[in-house]
Amino acid sequence: MKKEQKNIILGVTASIAIYKSCDLVRKLRERGFAVTVVMTKEAQELVKPIVFQSLSANRVYTGGLFDAQDSWDIEHVSLAEKAELILIAPATANIIAKLAAGICDDLLSCLVCASTAKVLIAPAMNANMYKNKITQGNIAKLKACGYGLIPPREGLLACGVKGVGCLAEVETIVAAVKKLL
Ligand SMILES: Cc1cc2nc3c(=O)[nH]c(=O)nc-3n(C[C@H](O)[C@H](O)[C@H](O)COP(=O)(O)O)c2cc1C
Repeated sequence: MKKEQKNIILGVTASIAIYKSCDLVRKLRERGFAVTVVMTKEAQELVKPIVFQSLSANRVYTGGLFDAQDSWDIEHVSLAEKAELILIAPATANIIAKLAAGICDDLLSCLVCASTAKVLIAPAMNANMYKNKITQGNIAKLKACGYGLIPPREGLLACGVKGVGCLAEVETIVAAVKKLL
């Protein structure tokens, strides 16, 4: 009998590390997970949804809460119910701040709020943004609420300086997912 696939929602936000989430989709599928990608509006400025659609072999949700839909379901609620895990990788300082504050102003933030699934967050940002006390406070708040954090690595950041803020390696993220599911 075929093993049932576990459903992961991959939230993709507008970090320069977004190119790594393309590989992440492939690696998760190779490990047998079904992946549904939800992109923020800003993320679509960096990578087109068609890339994730091809890699995930699944529809990509592009974040418009009020877009015309082809079913009567309320999208953020139905997606939230189907997910075993919501993984946000890369997670910007912005999405981390929104989740910590309970802001629900796009599909990704609404569905995290509406879901009882496990949530894993892999931040990626400039070292100063990551060290910023407000970001650190937001991360601490999310951890206290039971969200899993996959810490960023130290490395050469897109801005040309070395520091902590690089998205964790794809294999580290996959290992964290496998540990949870
Ligand atoms: C080229 C480029 C790269 C960016 N990289 C990052 C990043 O790595 N991490 C981050 O937190 N913000 C980054 N930003 C800023 C975010 O894109 C910005 O805060 C945006 O509003 C986030 O939207 P989202 O969280 O809804 O995707 C970047 C912006 C640009 C233009």
